[in-house]
Amino acid sequence: MSRFIRSAGAVTALAVLAALSTQCTPSQPAARRAGGGAQSDVALAAQKTYVAPGDLDQYYMFSSGGHSGQVYVYGIPSMRHLSTIPVFTPYPATGYGFDDDTKKMLGELTWGDAHHPALSETKGEYDGRWLFINEMNGRIARIDLRDFKTKQIFGPVPNLHGNHASSFVTPNTEYAVMATRFSVPVPRRPIGVDKYATDYKGIIAGIKIDPKSGEMSLGWQILMPPFDFDLADAGKLASDGWMFFSSYNSERATGKLEVTASQRDRDYIAAVDWHAAEKAIADGKFETIDGVKVIDPKKVAGIVYLMPCGKSPHGVDVSPDGKWIIGSGKLQGVTTAFNFEKIQTAIRNKDFTGDEDGIPILKYESIKDAEIAVGLGPLHTQFGTDGWAYTSLFVDSAIAKWKLGTWEVVDKAPMSYSIGHLAAAEGDTVSPDGNYLVGLNKLSHGRHLNVGPSQPESSQLLDISEEKMKLLYDAFTEPEPHYAQIIKADKIKPIEVYPKEENKHAMAVWDVKDAGITRNGKKVLVKMVAVRSTLTPTSFEVQAGDEVTVAITNIEQTTDELHGFGLLDYNINLVIDPGETKTVTFTAKKGGVFAYYCTNFCSALHQEMQGYMIVK
Ligand code: CUA
Repeated sequence: MSRFIRSAGAVTALAVLAALSTQCTPSQPAARRAGGGAQSDVALAAQKTYVAPGDLDQYYMFSSGGHSGQVYVYGIPSMRHLSTIPVFTPYPATGYGFDDDTKKMLGELTWGDAHHPALSETKGEYDGRWLFINEMNGRIARIDLRDFKTKQIFGPVPNLHGNHASSFVTPNTEYAVMATRFSVPVPRRPIGVDKYATDYKGIIAGIKIDPKSGEMSLGWQILMPPFDFDLADAGKLASDGWMFFSSYNSERATGKLEVTASQRDRDYIAAVDWHAAEKAIADGKFETIDGVKVIDPKKVAGIVYLMPCGKSPHGVDVSPDGKWIIGSGKLQGVTTAFNFEKIQTAIRNKDFTGDEDGIPILKYESIKDAEIAVGLGPLHTQFGTDGWAYTSLFVDSAIAKWKLGTWEVVDKAPMSYSIGHLAAAEGDTVSPDGNYLVGLNKLSHGRHLNVGPSQPESSQLLDISEEKMKLLYDAFTEPEPHYAQIIKADKIKPIEVYPKEENKHAMAVWDVKDAGITRNGKKVLVKMVAVRSTLTPTSFEVQAGDEVTVAITNIEQTTDELHGFGLLDYNINLVIDPGETKTVTFTAKKGGVFAYYCTNFCSALHQEMQGYMIVK
């Protein structure tokens, strides 16, 4: 038993945090902190991260924005913030959530807790087409990396509540996954929590992705015991065709989970054979619940198995060759390497120790290859070249470097402070790059200028190209980087303008002489052209109570020439990219004169780009 568990007994998250905050000491200037030889270390780190003006970074990092509902894009190794992609939350800077289309896509939910970005893959390699990201309200969004815009928000998906173990795509982007963190009665109905253990259910879901368009649709769901599913990863190469989901609360407890859900020594990783799930659906072995095809493993064998894992696992990570599944029990001092071949053998031999709601439990000793003594509070593992693995240690506030196969821990790098997830360059692919590793830390105080109680999150960049890991850079980010992925920059080739010939919008106008106002009863359509430096028409009149649609086409075909449309007092702000048409529809409730103007700097005469709406 680890020192941590022994001393802490029933460990609470609060106790861990309290212990940590006393360990954190304010930072000192780097040279003083590092002691002898510090100057050359600092110079080397500076050189490694310095991207000269006009030069470009080697990688993109896509980082989850947590409860901000956004995705943040960074350049690696500079750690410069390049862009914010609004996904689940309106973002006035790009007009997202203000025009008709994005407003409709967001629906009633204008907030989302975005967790795990997943780049689309072909043969287990990031292919640079799409980025998927889940959020807790049972949704996954797809961002098109051609223009870095959110194109679809799929969900909320029925039966499944608190979609945390998501989005984690399969090696050819056949599926993104979803799983329940907060079990609920399935079908949804108001049953008291005293019936939690028997009447509440978890759900694991496969969300189908169209290989051409990226469009998501519902594949299947599997009825699971009421565990709290946490993270997931898709099998690859040797383990292709499988999905792995970590879970905690195998106690099926309610109330104060920090105590009640930490009683058992082991929780589970669920291993799902997704081809078998597809076959069960094709064979009609499902029940339709709330419009979704749900497989009950009690009635259909061979779909899902439970792998016992260290207490309250967080990360479950498949090695690049697919041979090992690394499960990190965050209330332990070791991380476990499960052998995929042994899992298959145990399934064939029915080497089970029991079941949970009819789902066989594999014998731990039969499927594990090693328990690696990485350190306290292992959370998440990423991979480098040559079988190197890197595990974040929340309690130790460090990263451990170790080797697949030999299980030898060779290095540890301290983090400031309380690292959560990690991201390695091309780290979730079948051929990681090594080079760089980013620690996504939960605490940062003393490492930056004081900005009051709401402190930024911190991300630390490490050089992993040599034997010892080296800290290169501290960067501070918006809340909250739960997970990130790093892709080679040359795999993404974004457009800079929308080509005119691709604009098929029914209300687009490409000539100022076609701009103007038309009326159909109480409905008014204003077709507007935005081009340096006029919004045409420069004024229009409507009647109070009219339903007004303004359709604005930015007819520029020049890079960087964005125009805005801010309508004062009406809570409207669109930003229209070159070649794009956007519409906004509203009721002219307020009478009077209202200015509209270009909100996005475009030229020396940007300030002159304005007009009036007169509401009579
Ligand atoms: Cu157009 Cu500023």
